Amino acid sequence: MSSPDGPVPEIRPRRVRGSAAWRRLVAQTRLNPAELVLPMFVREGVNEPVPISSMPGVVQHTLDSLKPALEDAAAAGIGGVMLFGVPAHKDAIGSGADDPDGILNVATRVAVAEVGDALVIQTDLCLDEFTDHGHCGVLDRQGRVDNDASLERYRSMALAQASSGSALLGLSGMMDGQVRAVRDVLDAHGHQDAAILGYAAKYASALYGPFREAVQSSLAGDRRTYQLDPANAREGVREAAIDVDEGADVVMVKPASLYLDVLSRVAAASPVPVWAYQVSGEYSMIEAAAAHGWIDRERAVLESLVSIRRAGADAILTYWAVEAARLIREGSPA
Ligand code: PBG
Repeated sequence: MSSPDGPVPEIRPRRVRGSAAWRRLVAQTRLNPAELVLPMFVREGVNEPVPISSMPGVVQHTLDSLKPALEDAAAAGIGGVMLFGVPAHKDAIGSGADDPDGILNVATRVAVAEVGDALVIQTDLCLDEFTDHGHCGVLDRQGRVDNDASLERYRSMALAQASSGSALLGLSGMMDGQVRAVRDVLDAHGHQDAAILGYAAKYASALYGPFREAVQSSLAGDRRTYQLDPANAREGVREAAIDVDEGADVVMVKPASLYLDVLSRVAAASPVPVWAYQVSGEYSMIEAAAAHGWIDRERAVLESLVSIRRAGADAILTYWAVEAARLIREGSPA
């Protein structure tokens, strides 16, 4: 871009980095508390919150401890909460999932009553927390995850969750046709306003490890016949397109940090909001390194979140949602 007759100007990109005021002015990505969603675990049959050892700072709530935590989330100005239920009893079909008195549905009614005006109350729609075999669907006679029989269970769960007041159903089971199945049943029963978050590009990831403790999963084996192979980006883009076609209101990429390329591609193509889930292992890796004094915890937290936003996420599910909201307000440099 040098002028034809003048001297070639010296190129000095550092000019706009020279002060905090400059850096603030030219920042191309900003974090906002409203774009953060807090995943929360609610456990049946406990009197005290139970710490999750592999996720320092995260607990399984009781129905009582859930309430002040929801008030904190609302006061922090975050966008919403995603509820997960941990039932006292599990069985082959995950009966607790669509029982109106099951822990997740009870917790949803509590959350709606407590903070339903301030936050978007969201629910995990998947069977793995409720099944004794730990899979996201029901099994056929050979022990394989039965796609279409699982859809029947999802339909029933969807009605239970929408009736409990969930505003956004998070379909995380990775069964084919799950978005269409749930949209159909919701519409047929007068729940046109209940929205669907399609966990479209959900990868079979080692980073879900700490979550398995959080929901006391009994899974033996893995989820590779339904979750995506980490090697495949194009498949993630395709899954997102399918979910949009089936009626998803929001699509998700999950995990976030190791899949920023997928996130960026889905964000470029999607006509609906694209969210990313910073999963349990992403949380625990940073917490563990920080606990050793190997990295600066707050900087690493904010850097991880800004990176996910920069890659194209419109909102982020993160276990740091409430704390990050405070850090953002305080203006900590990322
Ligand atoms: C399935 C579900 C999982 C997570 C969210 N929803 C577990 C899995 O698919 O194995 C993982 C979230 C995390 O690791 O933080 N109900």
